[in-house]
Amino acid sequence: MRKKILAANWKMNLTQPEVTEWLQAYNIIDWNMHHAELRVYPSAIYLQNFKDLTLHVGAQNVNAAASGAFTGEHSIQQLLSVGAQSVLIGHSERRQLFGENDTVIHQKVRACATNALPFVLCCGEPLLLREQQRHVTYVLEQIGSSLSGLGADQLDLLVVAYEPIWAIGTGLSANIAQITEMHQAIRTYLCSLFGQAAQSVPVLYGGSVDPSNAAAIFGCPDVDGALVGGAALQVHSFYQLWLALQS
Ligand code: PGA
Repeated sequence: MRKKILAANWKMNLTQPEVTEWLQAYNIIDWNMHHAELRVYPSAIYLQNFKDLTLHVGAQNVNAAASGAFTGEHSIQQLLSVGAQSVLIGHSERRQLFGENDTVIHQKVRACATNALPFVLCCGEPLLLREQQRHVTYVLEQIGSSLSGLGADQLDLLVVAYEPIWAIGTGLSANIAQITEMHQAIRTYLCSLFGQAAQSVPVLYGGSVDPSNAAAIFGCPDVDGALVGGAALQVHSFYQLWLALQS
């Protein structure tokens, strides 16, 4: 059975006092993590806040280079040294706002694979491509170019997050038919690339997941959890999602 994952992408939100408050609220809940994995992707400056917690923590971004003159960036070894257990790669905000193209994303995937650092590969189409019925091809191409060179024996490093760009932060999540279509296409494609070993790769949905739609989304075939922005900033709503994932 595939691992279920609920992951918080805090983006560039929360100050240190707010992180402390979040963790205090987190700590008084019994999360019962036997059936699923809970992850938080905070700003890298907060990674060490998580060092005493039994919670998977990761970074929102990584630079593919080992070290050097890359002002403002973080290397894999730096992230590992402050407790990161995985990284997000290719979030649409990185692609759209910071100009990360398929080549850059592929380099990051290669660097993670070389260093055996688990990663969440984010993919998703803009609205225009969906309107033109080109969304499936587009997303599969994103995945194919990012993962080229990855071996089936490295699949335990990989989680895929399908996040349609038009659904991120808009309050308008994709509907069940749209999610099902894409997740099945991604699963079939991963199996065509890697064989049956790809059945073990979790594929998450992201884009306006909240307590009102989570149960329906988690009920979709081939949805193994979610990558959540807005609804993960409050422990209360994040916990509602956690309960929905387990039911
Ligand atoms: P959202 O963000 O849940 O606020 O739509 C999801 C994401 O960008 O990962």
